[in-house]
Amino acid sequence: MKLLIKGGTLISPDQKEIFSTDVLIADGKVAVFGNNLEMDRAFIIDAGGKLVLPGLIDLHAHLREPGFEDSETIATGTMAAAKGGFTSLACMPNTNPVADNSSVISFILNKARQGGKVNVFPIGAITAGSRGEELAEMAGLKEAGAVAFSDDGRCISNAAVMYRAMQYATMINMPVIAHCEDTRLSAQGAMHEGYYSTLLGLKGIPAAAEEVMVTRDIILAGETGCRLHIAHVSTEGSVQLIRQAKARGLRVTAEATPHHFTLTDREVTGYNTSTKVNPPLRTLEDVNAVRQGLRDGTIDVIATDHAPHAQEKKEVEYENAPFGISGLETAVGLVWTELVNTGILSPLEAVEKMTANPARILGISKGILAKGADADLTIIDPARTEKVDPARFVSKGRNTPFAGRMLAGVPVMTIVGGKIVFEYAG
Ligand code: NCD
Ligand code: ZN
Repeated sequence: MKLLIKGGTLISPDQKEIFSTDVLIADGKVAVFGNNLEMDRAFIIDAGGKLVLPGLIDLHAHLREPGFEDSETIATGTMAAAKGGFTSLACMPNTNPVADNSSVISFILNKARQGGKVNVFPIGAITAGSRGEELAEMAGLKEAGAVAFSDDGRCISNAAVMYRAMQYATMINMPVIAHCEDTRLSAQGAMHEGYYSTLLGLKGIPAAAEEVMVTRDIILAGETGCRLHIAHVSTEGSVQLIRQAKARGLRVTAEATPHHFTLTDREVTGYNTSTKVNPPLRTLEDVNAVRQGLRDGTIDVIATDHAPHAQEKKEVEYENAPFGISGLETAVGLVWTELVNTGILSPLEAVEKMTANPARILGISKGILAKGADADLTIIDPARTEKVDPARFVSKGRNTPFAGRMLAGVPVMTIVGGKIVFEYAG
């Protein structure tokens, strides 16, 4: 099967360029670039006025399977990814059982191969059961196909355990993804600690809960030489700490989510549990610092932290609701509306943070659009706008704080390995 994408504008992070070209896809690979390409027996895709990108990669998603299939499965989560323009995602190990051994990694890879719409790259746990005590079988996880290690959802409180984990990860050349949260400082908090937590009478999570652990992990990365990736950066202080670490030459990278560069803690007014997320929505100063961090390169990656929850789990009092936002189906629209159309990022910079940069951190051969590369492509319509309607999500998680928002920039086609896995139907 050959696909010929005609008339589109290609954004190429490897060539650092944007140019008009047709793209021919054959045998699951990118075969030819060129203008006015013709090919018999190829399926023609009209991309006039559209942007053709390397398939987007989400470095931080929760697929919930095995164990929490009422909230998401590998099938529904990858369907949501395809609809959101993602061709690959890395999934976090906080499943049940936790992905702390090779058989869970193999299970995920098999499920993804059988019923998955996009490429799935599992992340293995750092510690057994993500309990933060003994290290998981890290080498075995790598052998089984894990691309990184994380205890995401939980922070490893014991610095000695994190230190050993980083030493070990460095030895086997794997990145460690840190969920930075001092749980003594965040204890029982439901939202950011500040004016609105006082107003709403909810226990707060101070910015320091994140920053204390960002500081610790940067120090440990410096000591061990570990490739440290900081997940879901949410505060101004964290952005500054990461900026300084990079200036010192440490191998530290970071990600930000669409909700953290868009929403403030003011959204919690009204107690909508879809605004409850960890780390919490912060202040306007924090949102602006995250935006500045994205702009100046301190923050390398935009990741969704897709955290779907079955509706009944969120239909409880704010204090008792689980943390998490369903993010795969709104990410592109938020990036385009909030960052590209506002001039904070160029289209090329935005695409780098969703393709080449996450691929480099995970060490996967994705995220570029060169001749011979896997034909994973995303086509987006930057001129189209659409209202966020959670009832139309294909994810099982409809927990979004963006319901009703008009977003510009719509993924209209997603191609994985030369096959169309999603096409926009209006
Ligand atoms: C995540 C989840 O639900 O698994 N929740 C969240 O609010 N981000 C865990 C996490 O990423 O910390
Ligand atoms: Zn986390």
